Amino acid sequence: MDLTKEDENILNGSAGNAAAKSMKILTALGEIYGAEKLIPVGSVQIAGVSYHNLGDAGLEYLAELALDGKVKVKTTLNPAGMDLTDWRKLGISPDFAEKQLKVVDAFSKMGVDTTCTCTPYLIGNLPKFGEHIAWSESSAVTYINSVVGARTNREGGPSAIAAAIVGKTPAYGLHLDENRLADVHVKVEAKVKTLPDYGALGYFIGNNAQLKIPYITGLKKSSLDMLKSFSASVVTYGAKPLYHIEGVTPEAKGMEVPQEKLVVTQKDLDDSYNVLNDEIGGIEFVSLGCPHCSIGEVGEIAEFLDGKKVKDGVELWVALARPVKKLADEKGYTKIIEDAGGKMACDTCMVVAPLKGRFKTIATTSAKACFYARGKNDMKVRLGSFQDCLNASVTGRWGA
Ligand code: F3S
Repeated sequence: MDLTKEDENILNGSAGNAAAKSMKILTALGEIYGAEKLIPVGSVQIAGVSYHNLGDAGLEYLAELALDGKVKVKTTLNPAGMDLTDWRKLGISPDFAEKQLKVVDAFSKMGVDTTCTCTPYLIGNLPKFGEHIAWSESSAVTYINSVVGARTNREGGPSAIAAAIVGKTPAYGLHLDENRLADVHVKVEAKVKTLPDYGALGYFIGNNAQLKIPYITGLKKSSLDMLKSFSASVVTYGAKPLYHIEGVTPEAKGMEVPQEKLVVTQKDLDDSYNVLNDEIGGIEFVSLGCPHCSIGEVGEIAEFLDGKKVKDGVELWVALARPVKKLADEKGYTKIIEDAGGKMACDTCMVVAPLKGRFKTIATTSAKACFYARGKNDMKVRLGSFQDCLNASVTGRWGA
């Protein structure tokens, strides 16, 4: 890989230990993937923030980088393992909280913007079309590549931190024009109208277009929230973190439609729901906001809960970025949700919080959450609309 004189100097320690270590990671990655050079990035988003995932080894690594490491570009964080200020209300232990705050403190020392969210594009970390960036969280990477047309690979936590400190990333994979073309034409014949429909569709396409880039027709009415949900699902279940939708996403225009074809029928969508859902009646936990809620979604939740009560024994989380919560406070949504017994879960989510063993069943609008709730937290799941999930929160039952 061709390095500039400045890159070489950084590698040799001219900008300090953290920068040298970061440059080593980036050059090693570049060599592995055959990159010709490093390219500047406009922003970074770092996943692997929860102490639950990092452990003490991860915390030590960050603390060492923070001794002399400083980020060069706008850098935000993925959700942490808890609400950073109101962690007690979510049932987090003081020991866990202490470690999690140390993790966030290390990022803060490096100059990272510690808004912990998987939807940074809703709160000001919004790259331009064609801009090179280095983001990690899979749903955010997929959304930003596809819906906005910015360019990023799905970075691991360490490579994203390295990119933030150096301000560059190796030019390979989805940074290059030739790797952004569609591989398979997905013709959607099923009726895809609701948020969970988009999640179930993502499940089907991800499973049937493993490591491919879909070019999708038949989805012209997709809203931002639907695309947010679809982005989370399609990559979780196996597609590449980039898709094109005819008439919706920017790079679809003028793109050659691939020969390989995948048709999604109504039966395929119905079967996907059947696979994603477990047969359960009682619901102990309702988790909304995967990916983190937009202000429109919080408004929909508040409208449903106005004057209602979450059933005793059921826990309801509304996961969102702190700036979105601030807006929800101002609009009166937070008061309505909290008066009903719901909990605003800022900075975190049900996947990265230490929840294993606390709940046996979960209702969610997110097909991605179904995957992790089952696989990571041993919960039985139900996938449905906001109405379905909120109804379960007040009755304690699915479909009652
Ligand atoms: Fe975001 Fe957590 Fe879902 S990081 S996409 S809310 S699993």
